[in-house]
Amino acid sequence: MPEEQFRALVVREHDGVYRRAVETRPLDSLPPGDTLVRVGYSSLNYKDMLSATGHPGITRAYPHTPGIDAAGVVVDSASDDLRVGDEVIVTGYDLGMNTSGGFAEYIRVSAEWLVPLPEGLTLASAMSCGTAGFTACLSLLGIEDAGVRPEDGPVLVTGATGGVGSLAVMLLADAGYDVTAATGRPDNAGKLLRLGAREVIARDDVLRPSGRPLVKGVWAAVVDTVGGEYLDSAIRATLANGVVTCCGMVASPRLNTSVLPFILRGVRLLGIDSAERSRDERLRAWGRLATVDAGERLEEITTECGLDGLDEHIERMRLGEGVGRVRVAVDSR
Ligand SMILES: NC(=O)c1ccc[n+]([C@@H]2O[C@H](COP(=O)([O-])OP(=O)(O)OC[C@H]3O[C@@H](n4cnc5c(N)ncnc54)[C@H](OP(=O)(O)O)[C@@H]3O)[C@@H](O)[C@H]2O)c1
Repeated sequence: MPEEQFRALVVREHDGVYRRAVETRPLDSLPPGDTLVRVGYSSLNYKDMLSATGHPGITRAYPHTPGIDAAGVVVDSASDDLRVGDEVIVTGYDLGMNTSGGFAEYIRVSAEWLVPLPEGLTLASAMSCGTAGFTACLSLLGIEDAGVRPEDGPVLVTGATGGVGSLAVMLLADAGYDVTAATGRPDNAGKLLRLGAREVIARDDVLRPSGRPLVKGVWAAVVDTVGGEYLDSAIRATLANGVVTCCGMVASPRLNTSVLPFILRGVRLLGIDSAERSRDERLRAWGRLATVDAGERLEEITTECGLDGLDEHIERMRLGEGVGRVRVAVDSR
């Protein structure tokens, strides 16, 4: 039987100021749901930082526990598909947004949100990947499904030292693509090369300031995690029939571009949403992540903390100073 109380990172709002603290909460404060999961690990994603700092559009009501990812063990379920002791992963849906999230020792959710932990991953390695790895994998699958092959040319990854970026570099390289990693922090070039990048360029080398609607085609595909002028430049420098995936907005949510790359080069812009994916898509992407022999490379880009140490990583991400992935070891027993 689970304990009656559990520890959680709780964000509280007072006069427009958002404060975070680890608190002890009663189990019956969790929302309704047919399955109770004891969380082993969670991870920090950009959306968690936004939720934890009161960004409008992510979380409507506080107090709130963020955490869009969780990996743990089923302790109680009304679902015929689950047994006590099953190891499961949940990412996205409403977890951590307006449903109490993974920065807590327990979550209560619908069984439909859960996927079984695939063979080849542990609860810890699954959360080194988390939503960032799932999103990077969906981007890779989108590029492959669109028919872009490694021999078609280099693939650009923007925001390469970030969570999605670093995992995209690794997954694309393992799939045989020639990866160019663009970063604002060239001191991390060694890490990106070890993940599998063929070349590391400065973030602003992606920019094509001429403003011309088409510039020399370089990229067979792009995994863009930052948006704004970087995405616009990447689209204009994509080769004929190339694919540009778009998942993030760290630089800007705005895209000011022209239709010419799309109608003269057949460039395809592929939006990536990781939160609302079908079960089959989830099983496919997690299955693919489980086949990657990530081992030491994944650990090198992962920093682990407990619930108590999470606050400083949220702040670092807010300042754009985070590197790689932050895994949260929630179950400290
Ligand atoms: N669509 C989805 O389902 C989905 C899922 C996951 C994440 N996302 C989004 O994807 C984006 C990245 O998420 P993440 O978890 O990887 O975040 P992250 O770990 O904070 O990484 C973001 C990276 O962007 C780069 N960057 C930071 N500030 C920048 C700026 N002002 N201009 C250009 N680049 C900048 C940095 O990399 P360098 O220093 O290496 O350049 C940074 O490491 C976020 O917008 C997030 O919301 C979307």
